[in-house]
Amino acid sequence: MITAYPEKNAFGAKLNSLVSPSRPVQTAEKLFGRDKELERIDRAFFAEGRHIFIYGSRGVGKSSLAAAAANQQQSADANYIDVSCSRDATLASIVANIAQTALGQNLLQNKSSTTSFGASLSVVTASHTVNSAAPVIASAIRTLPDAVEVLRQAAETHSKNPVVVLDEFNLLADAAERTAFSDLLKILGDKKVGLRFIFTGVAESLNELLGANESAYRQLETIELPKLAYQARMDIVQDVADGLGVSVDRDFIIRIASISDGFPYYVHLLTEKLMWRVFDDQEIIDEANDDHFEEAVKDAIETIAAQLKRPYELALRQRSGDIEPVIWATADGDVLARFVDEMYQSYQRIMEQLDEAPLDRKTFMSRLQTLRKETSGGILVRDIKPGLYTYREKMLRGYVRLQAEANHIRLPGDVSYTPERQVIRAPSRASTGFHGPSTPKGFRFRGEKKPSSRS
Ligand SMILES: Nc1ncnc2c1ncn2[C@@H]1O[C@H](COP(=O)(O)OP(=O)(O)O)[C@@H](O)[C@H]1O
Ligand SMILES: [Mg+2]
Repeated sequence: MITAYPEKNAFGAKLNSLVSPSRPVQTAEKLFGRDKELERIDRAFFAEGRHIFIYGSRGVGKSSLAAAAANQQQSADANYIDVSCSRDATLASIVANIAQTALGQNLLQNKSSTTSFGASLSVVTASHTVNSAAPVIASAIRTLPDAVEVLRQAAETHSKNPVVVLDEFNLLADAAERTAFSDLLKILGDKKVGLRFIFTGVAESLNELLGANESAYRQLETIELPKLAYQARMDIVQDVADGLGVSVDRDFIIRIASISDGFPYYVHLLTEKLMWRVFDDQEIIDEANDDHFEEAVKDAIETIAAQLKRPYELALRQRSGDIEPVIWATADGDVLARFVDEMYQSYQRIMEQLDEAPLDRKTFMSRLQTLRKETSGGILVRDIKPGLYTYREKMLRGYVRLQAEANHIRLPGDVSYTPERQVIRAPSRASTGFHGPSTPKGFRFRGEKKPSSRS
């Protein structure tokens, strides 16, 4: 039970305002651990003609950073322009979408527009055609200068300081269309069109998206978004707990932070499920306990999209029947790319917790090879460096860690967060329920003082 929100509707609404596992964060206030990136974007926008490109793994928080930054940078006279890419998009169709959005907002706000989109585009200024304006505009854009002209007028119509978020640029399948964007940015700069772009894209390197074309990068401030830092993960949980007046033990907060593998999606999801479990409890008041946590982990697993879990389930279909602890071992520790020996050590310690005999190294190795096969989910791929393996879909790692937790396995790599516990053997499953590590060094919880700079 939750004292402040005893009634389900009020509780649900409040919770929903605090967690957002399935939509990007919109404001800097709810964006944890990205101050450095927000500041970089702020500074970059002082330079005329500069745009932002945020790239990184799926689910790491690119759209959230883009939205929060856009809300900060967009002038108060309008909402920023939000457009997404799709597989069949072209530069012309995207520019047309931007124009339609800009124009639509303008008409909604009943501003009188003194500009028209040129002779061939004036048709769209009639409000009844705005919703279907994009194809008309797109067909009128035949050259880059056409696109620039449309954007100029869109910018002037839209607001004092217009910002465009162009999300999921990687979906734009045609490489030539992607390259055309860098040429477009250059002309926008030359022609002093006051429109700022924030791009996001799933990629490990920008080369994947923009090719090796040097000049493409001159107009761009590129931000590679790393996993969310430990402190920020914990702050998200604490923020939700505070918002509802629920106390969550530091052990749970650490465990959520650690399971999430730095993907804020899992932090939101687990926290959301945990809060519902506290809400459901008739006896325990305003406090999360072990049972709530255990149920929340299961609830989270149930909720996760089939698409994301599929590789895990495919891998489990292997005949050998001994592969699950091998998969958990691959997801141990904080570092994505791991050597076979490291994974084998994790595996041995997991088997100790299970009180079962481990596979020998050679068999373990052959199971790892199985995990690389497409028919078994293709979970692992070789890293660039020889002997290193990494996850094909980085976000799956968090799911694997959640599965380990649901099976009462404490991934041994996580124990080493605690300096004083580094030498401790992973506890056996029989002797423990969960034993969370104590606060990782340097991390703070509510009510704890910031450590002085000398300590
Ligand atoms: N810095 C952050 N602080 C709090 N929550 C975040 C943060 N970044 C992302 N999230 C949450 O994580 C989830 C995934 O973020 P999103 O921005 O959609 O990732 P991406 O665009 O990289 O796939 C969303 O539910 C969002 O609410
Ligand atoms: Mg996104």
